[in-house]
Amino acid sequence: MHIGVPAETRAYETRVAATPETVKKYVSQGHRVTVQSGAGTPASFPDDAFVAVGAEMTDTAGAFAADLILKVQSPTEAELPLIKRGATLVGMLDPFNADNAARLAAAGLTAFALEAAPRTTRAQSLDVLSSQANIAGYKAVLLAADLYPRFMPMLMTAAGTVKAARVLILGAGVAGLQAIATAKRLGAVIEASDVRPAVKEQIESLGAKFLDVPYETDDEREAAEGVGGYARPMPPSWLARQSALVHERARQADVVITTALIPGRPAPTLISAETVQAMKPGSVLIDLAAGRGAEVDGRRGGNCPLTEPDKIVTKHGVTLAGYTNLAAMVPADASSLYARNLLDFMKLIVTKEGTLNIDLADDIVAATLLVRDGAVVRAA
Ligand code: NAI
Repeated sequence: MHIGVPAETRAYETRVAATPETVKKYVSQGHRVTVQSGAGTPASFPDDAFVAVGAEMTDTAGAFAADLILKVQSPTEAELPLIKRGATLVGMLDPFNADNAARLAAAGLTAFALEAAPRTTRAQSLDVLSSQANIAGYKAVLLAADLYPRFMPMLMTAAGTVKAARVLILGAGVAGLQAIATAKRLGAVIEASDVRPAVKEQIESLGAKFLDVPYETDDEREAAEGVGGYARPMPPSWLARQSALVHERARQADVVITTALIPGRPAPTLISAETVQAMKPGSVLIDLAAGRGAEVDGRRGGNCPLTEPDKIVTKHGVTLAGYTNLAAMVPADASSLYARNLLDFMKLIVTKEGTLNIDLADDIVAATLLVRDGAVVRAA
């Protein structure tokens, strides 16, 4: 099969969908791989490294002219017409975005959105949300440490003692747990919260304190159990109690990192404008849900309505960082892990003979198939 690897062109995107390590494997499986010249450069994979493992270097049109295109993000308006009708596209294609699925369908493609893979043991090696969220959680802490005007660890020096930073982490999924682990390594004192009761043990095993908001009704308990491992929107009664506790803890915190997402829905508001106002001067909020929250005044915030996508702003003396693509800020490892996810996924859809095989009896294939032969098959 002819596999194409174009360069990513969307803003703040530095990752690449194949690395020399995975191209070598595709070539050894008998595939022809064409990589756009410079595609790996932002992630520190130079053209030479791809050539050395058997890739052909090409231009944009050449990379998009393949039978199967490996991408990080969805093709842009300019890129889509470069893909042949009938070709297959694999990437992070935003499965809850119906407009995007319709665009891909209109282009006559077959497309797989890897974010839609089930969170099962078998799908772990191709779980792009996990591989990238893990990196985002790590980088969030490093950026917070950079923006915070004090030390993170407790230090006893000849000039006096420095207190450890207090870090509050809201949402303890893959990103939140990695943020806890990273903040712990830097010597911070950490508190964390989530709606899902299962995470209490994980939070505590990483050395953080679990902020408990007990459930008071069956309705609350049931919502907290979520669906497919994911959170569901919590009833207003629980959110109000959570908000009061978060307000209290955020006032004491030096760094707040929010990572709460609900697939297919706006991210919940966890840090209100009033809470930001009550936070200490110089404290830092890193909002991993920036641009994905509820709309306020025609603008989408994140877990905090005051964060602005891809900007660092100071409001009420608090530094608010709204990076929307933190994984792309660690481009080499983010690409390596993502490319391995793709390599594993390809085993499910490409036969040993090198032909496409869409086996809908396979739950991962069925869940990720967004568009087939120009028709949207997955409800957004
Ligand atoms: P996510 O990125 O969708 O959300 C991040 C976190 O925010 C979640 O832990 C969620 O419960 C939390 N959250 C949502 N609303 C909240 C609120 N109002 N207040 C506080 N926290 C809130 O989640 P992620 O990281 O993708 O993980 C989703 C699930 O998948 C988890 O249960 C995780 O353990 C599971 N998982 C399973 C894997 C496997 O078995 N293969 C691999 C990776 C994750």
